[in-house]
Amino acid sequence: MLDALLSLEQSALAELAAAANAEALERWRIAYIGANGQLKQAMTGLKDVPKDAKPAVGKRLNEVKASLEAAFESRRTALASSGPSGPVVDITEPGLDLGLGRRHVLSRTIDEITDVFARMGFSVAQGPELEDEWHNFNALNIPAGHPARDPRDNFYLKGTWAERLLLRTQTSTVQIRAMESQKPPLKVVATGRVYRPDAHDATHFSMFHQIEGLCIDRSVSMVDLKTSLLQFARAYFGADAEVRLRPSFFPFTEPSAEFDMKMRIRGELQWVELGGCGMVDPNVLNAVGIDPEEWTGYAFGLGIERIAMRKYGIADIRWLFENDARFLRQF
Ligand code: DAH
Repeated sequence: MLDALLSLEQSALAELAAAANAEALERWRIAYIGANGQLKQAMTGLKDVPKDAKPAVGKRLNEVKASLEAAFESRRTALASSGPSGPVVDITEPGLDLGLGRRHVLSRTIDEITDVFARMGFSVAQGPELEDEWHNFNALNIPAGHPARDPRDNFYLKGTWAERLLLRTQTSTVQIRAMESQKPPLKVVATGRVYRPDAHDATHFSMFHQIEGLCIDRSVSMVDLKTSLLQFARAYFGADAEVRLRPSFFPFTEPSAEFDMKMRIRGELQWVELGGCGMVDPNVLNAVGIDPEEWTGYAFGLGIERIAMRKYGIADIRWLFENDARFLRQF
């Protein structure tokens, strides 16, 4: 029995010296000093040892146990400190999902579109979402009594008739603010939220986003307008994008047009209605003190949700505002 213990100790120590990593070390621990390891088995065997030899064998067993445990500890310390400095990280594990967010698909679309216009020489203008009637209506050639001012189509705030405020219904307000604060020539785009009391369905929401463009210069023409829209379409939707203008009416432009873009959507070229545009009406220029004999301009306004929905194949506008992470994670 004493011989057996000696050879157990020797082979255990030899194997331990060969254990080169944490896994091998653990295998060794289980095999020799674990709850069912060889040492434990030897201890169970003590009961079969003749009575007079028991004290010597028992003493030896305890020595072997102490020697193996001490050797194990020092081997473990040696292995830990011989690895890379700092705590050991097991990179074979998949890792924790930290649940990092991402940019909302609309924010991303707004940034991308703004970026294209910035490269075309437009600077970025801003205006408030809470507006007065001057900027939302009067200056845009929408006089008192015009049906567009109907309380059923606007979010008016409480106030006297003379100083009513409302949530802007269009980013065209920023055209007026830009022309009031800067002298022509000017070339600006503005993005932001607009509000309309529409019932919510797959294509309507009471808040959505527009991008407005305005260019005022000497002898700007409809050709410049169409060229800018075409340049934008090609830069954003691809080299085979096209632009189509259809006659329409807006109080603040004359002539006015609806514009469609032919864009590649998941492989297929399709015409998509994107917004309105036209030549800035002389009444608008007069309202902000710009001489329409000297300056002309074009303007356009696009619906951003419509672009994002087409571009990313989103069937329902409401999904954009539900903040369901499972939906938003896709973009
Ligand atoms: N403001 C218009 C709307 O919300 C869109 C629009 C049409 C903007 C023509 C323009 C424009 O700048 O020239 O329906």
